[in-house]
Amino acid sequence: MTRPFPFLSIDAAARSVSLDARDPAFYRNPNPVYAELHAHAPTFWWEEQKQWYFTGYDQVNALLRDRRFGRQILHVASREELGMPAPLPHLKHFDAAEAWSLLELEPPEHTRLRTLVNRAFVSRQIDRLRPEITALANRLIDGFEKDGKVELLSAFADIVPVTMIARMIGIPDEMGPQLLKWSHDYVRMYMFGRTEADEHAADKAAAEFADYVRSVIAERRANPRDDLLSHMIHTEHKGQLLTEDELISTTIVLLNAGHEATVHQIGNAVRSILDSGLSPEAMFADDKTTERTVEEALRICAPVHIFERYALEDVEVDGIPFRRGDKIALILAAANLDPKKFSDPLTFRPDRDEGPNLSFGAGIHFCIGAPLARLELNIVLPLLFQRLRGMRLAKTPVVKDVYHFHGLERLDLVW
Ligand code: HEM
Repeated sequence: MTRPFPFLSIDAAARSVSLDARDPAFYRNPNPVYAELHAHAPTFWWEEQKQWYFTGYDQVNALLRDRRFGRQILHVASREELGMPAPLPHLKHFDAAEAWSLLELEPPEHTRLRTLVNRAFVSRQIDRLRPEITALANRLIDGFEKDGKVELLSAFADIVPVTMIARMIGIPDEMGPQLLKWSHDYVRMYMFGRTEADEHAADKAAAEFADYVRSVIAERRANPRDDLLSHMIHTEHKGQLLTEDELISTTIVLLNAGHEATVHQIGNAVRSILDSGLSPEAMFADDKTTERTVEEALRICAPVHIFERYALEDVEVDGIPFRRGDKIALILAAANLDPKKFSDPLTFRPDRDEGPNLSFGAGIHFCIGAPLARLELNIVLPLLFQRLRGMRLAKTPVVKDVYHFHGLERLDLVW
């Protein structure tokens, strides 16, 4: 048994780990814990979460692509067969919004829905947004450049991703603050330690969000425009149109997934760059160095650390037998620090060229928004460092107590 930190004990022989995810010393910087796990128990049973976790790069990469696992299980087995509890009545609206979410579906339904939206998100289409993202970022920086200080998340990072995804879908800019509020309430459902109050708030947000989207759909049916919602309403897949419920779910998941992680990642990247002590001029010297810097920040401080899968059949992995319906968890952020894949993994080294990080996942659920998130990061990071010369931390930022997400409460900067 090793006890490298007061909040962590590892029984390497039994591959069993006790770890308090609410301990600030852990969630403020999980990376040293991930290093311990790689050294002693890369695959482990997490006592508090009562589930198996995987951290090895090759293992996580393979499991994300492994069709014996899926994000959904109810397409192959019933709740009764699996001994799953019945849906909670106070999550009725949340469950309805999730019912057709890309993230909750497996083929063939997943393929049908993903095919319909994918065209809008391929790099070729997304690259056309470059001037619009640049203009928006410049306009926001104009608003605080002369102040010599800013709280970057509320004045900048919160605004760029939500505005861009809302515009793509066809929702007016003015809805941005309301979308952020619904989305914050909604995504608490995915965080460790959620309470019943969180569940009620998420359900209320889902109901209001769905009503709003329904009204925009009605409007767009009558007056189609050149936006993703009109495209989804009017495009057929094998002779079938999307139903109203499918349209609502898809719109909500795109809006939610489409900004929360990117907001965190703008903050995480700025902080990692400043903490590294390396020269921002060198990091943002050209498109290639910028791209490497963005990828290195995604590797070392990913915004979402864990994704889960159900075993769709009885299966053995790394010597552990899983029954159909068992859940496993993949720590993408830890896979990014596997010393077998990345040399000196806890060090921010934007010049490294050791293969892709797993922060956007892999396989059929690979992040559909990755080209958009990457474009936003590749535009806004150099702009911030070029326009706010000498930018530095005004105080040590506080990390949110929302493991397994990783983001800052605020990011106070001066220049
Ligand atoms: C830095 C920002 C982002 C990160 C780190 C991120 C990460 C991820 C990851 C890891 C997955 C795969 C989940 C799994 O395999 O279980 C995923 C899926 C997804 N992401 Fe992102 N994402 C980001 C930004 C975005 C944006 C901007 C959008 C906007 C459209 C988006 C929309 C989605 C959707 C719809 C899925 C589900 C895809 C599917 O199941 O087929 N994400 N994201």
